[in-house]
Amino acid sequence: MQRFLASVLVPAIAFAVAACGTLHSDGPPSDDPPPDGPAVVSVPVPDGFRAVPSQGPLLAHRVALGERLFFDPILSSDRTVSCGTCHLREKAFTDGHLRSVGVQGRRGLRNAPSLLNVAYRRSLFWDGEHPSLEHQALVPLGDSLEMDLPVREALARLKAHPEYPTLFAEAFNGQGPSEPTLIDALAAFQRTLVSAPTRFDRYRAGEAEAFNEAEVRGLVLFEIHCQKCHAGPHLTTDGFANNGAAVSDEDPGRERITSDPADRGLFRIPSLRAVARTAPYFHDGRFSTLDAVVDHYDRGGDGTPGQDVRIGPLHLTDTERAALIAFLRTLDDQAAPVSQTLTP
Ligand code: HEC
Ligand code: HEC
Repeated sequence: MQRFLASVLVPAIAFAVAACGTLHSDGPPSDDPPPDGPAVVSVPVPDGFRAVPSQGPLLAHRVALGERLFFDPILSSDRTVSCGTCHLREKAFTDGHLRSVGVQGRRGLRNAPSLLNVAYRRSLFWDGEHPSLEHQALVPLGDSLEMDLPVREALARLKAHPEYPTLFAEAFNGQGPSEPTLIDALAAFQRTLVSAPTRFDRYRAGEAEAFNEAEVRGLVLFEIHCQKCHAGPHLTTDGFANNGAAVSDEDPGRERITSDPADRGLFRIPSLRAVARTAPYFHDGRFSTLDAVVDHYDRGGDGTPGQDVRIGPLHLTDTERAALIAFLRTLDDQAAPVSQTLTP
């Protein structure tokens, strides 16, 4: 995989399109393109990430189709809401609302998570309900609080559209819009949403000058207090934890899907990549700033039943709190991936 270690502001274009099969999860890309193979998208990844977990090469036509569908409100009942309404590129694919707003202003249960690096997540949703992008892709359509459009109606619209049938045929060897092709296109696009390398990555790679003094101090505090859960280059173990946030009956967390009372208050540990752009925070958007989040941890959580033993008062000084926040801000690549320029 290509690696970028040297720049803070990566180019807005996060993709390289090559006329060869380059993207497999199980080995390095081949430098010898098959002469007539379809164009594929290769995604540059930060140091420490493995290649994008993939079901196969990310075919450029498929990714471009998925991107168009992702931003097209045709997939909602009243044609006002697209996936991109709640997953805005500039907000690292979150929406800035406490809890998402779907068709006709209907308020959902939860805060929209960032879709950056979503291909790497071991499970999806705050409670881990869905195992894969394919499993999740049509869920927002069926959700009456989100897009509220039966899949058969969505497919009928796409089949009657002046351009989509051709775009699907190009992307899927002549196949038109169908449940599997729609799912596959949306998932292919989302697999390309990999965060560009950040100052944090440069510092990890040994570039000492990538961090100022406060950020170094913040990293040390992060390693002591936070890294147990927000671990490694992805800044998450991908596990579930009760970080002491008071739980409401409306949303008991993982208990919602396991029905096990021991899972009450457990939420997926979010990655903190691009966290400066994904406010408000926590599953219900209860905190609007990083400052408020650090307050939560500093006071040792809300003392929620089942609170993780690793969450307790930190007694940070003002300087330490500022350093921790300065560090959290280095996790942003400052440029969301764009692929409009894709030309297979
Ligand atoms: C009305 C707002 C809304 C719309 C429209 C919407 N989403 Fe989401 N999305 C959310 C919310 C809220 C969650 C978190 C749900 C949960 O945890 O229960 C989410 C979660 C996800 C996740 C899981 C991310 C993770 O890390 O867990 C993926 C993937 C996703 N959405 C993709 C899509 C796609 C693809 C579409 C369009 C077909 C779409 N979303 C439409 C609000 C929305
Ligand atoms: C015991 C595990 C654990 C520890 C330790 C921990 N966190 Fe978290 N963190 C979580 C969980 C779980 C959530 C999601 C909570 C929710 O949605 O209700 C979370 C959420 C967050 C969020 C919000 C991200 C978002 O997208 O909404 C930030 C920021 C954050 N943590 C920063 C920190 C910092 C800074 C520390 C150290 C002071 C820390 N965390 C320590 C488990 C942990």
